[in-house]
Amino acid sequence: PRPIIIDCDPGVDDAIALLLAFASTEFDLLGITTVSGNVPLELTQANARRICHLAQRTDVPVYAGCPRPLLRSLTTAEDIHGATGLQGAELPEPTLPLQSQHAVAFLVEQLTTTSTPITLATLGPLTNLAVALIQCPEIAQSIDQVVMMGGALGNGNITPAAEFNIYVDPHAANVVVEAGLPLTMIGLDVTHQVVTTPDRLAALEALGTSVSKAAAGMLRYYGQLDVERHGLTAPPLHDPCVIAYLLRPELFTGRPMHLAIETEGSLCLGRTVANRHLTPNATIIETAAADGIYALLIERLRKL
Ligand code: BDR
Ligand code: CA
Repeated sequence: PRPIIIDCDPGVDDAIALLLAFASTEFDLLGITTVSGNVPLELTQANARRICHLAQRTDVPVYAGCPRPLLRSLTTAEDIHGATGLQGAELPEPTLPLQSQHAVAFLVEQLTTTSTPITLATLGPLTNLAVALIQCPEIAQSIDQVVMMGGALGNGNITPAAEFNIYVDPHAANVVVEAGLPLTMIGLDVTHQVVTTPDRLAALEALGTSVSKAAAGMLRYYGQLDVERHGLTAPPLHDPCVIAYLLRPELFTGRPMHLAIETEGSLCLGRTVANRHLTPNATIIETAAADGIYALLIERLRKL
């Protein structure tokens, strides 16, 4: 199995992404690192542990990372994810303890001691990875690839120019993009193609397990605001696309491009700028096969 660390800010779609990863034997999930984003860190780390408990994956260690972005003050998204971050699921207090090691220390330790390159799936603001890269630049050599949900070539969601994960910590995103890593970006252009239609939601709920009920409960509430704001047919499912890409890259298409982050402007702060005329530093995913991704999600969640 492929060694992987998931860095996230659960968050409803982060939670679904974690469930998809838990159900996939292709991964050796070394740990979950959490960051402030959709909701503050105290909630994201506890929510990650709630999801481990729900899926009976209390063997996976959960670490708390950075409580705020590098330079900016924290922007959260309770309007999308609810006050708890996991609105729509009634999940008990987690029994799985939080690891005492800091998420950044865990990332640095894993990446400096591993003999096999590690894949990083980033589902939230990039603060933890940026701090790890600042602290110990050599870790870049042990990263197999970073697949991030973040950015948009078209319209943003938190501002017209920027997607939430990049906007929350554009300076961290810039550190990651400039680190010379094998980076794949899955932005809103892709995730807005993967929407939770009533049929897909019904198929998920029909699994009839406690995991599927919690997942369907969250997805019923999640993203209605996105539908109104972006004129979508149904709510988009962002973060699970990263895990689906790692499992089934053939469900996606993309191209190498040069990616840069706007860190200075006010109107365009956090914009991801892709340039096809410069030397590529990232693979930018452009299309996703939504039926295949939902089929994969439902097939895998059946196992939990
Ligand atoms: C991203 O922002 C968060 O609200 C979601 O969890 C996802 O990672 C989408 O812009
Ligand atoms: Ca997220």
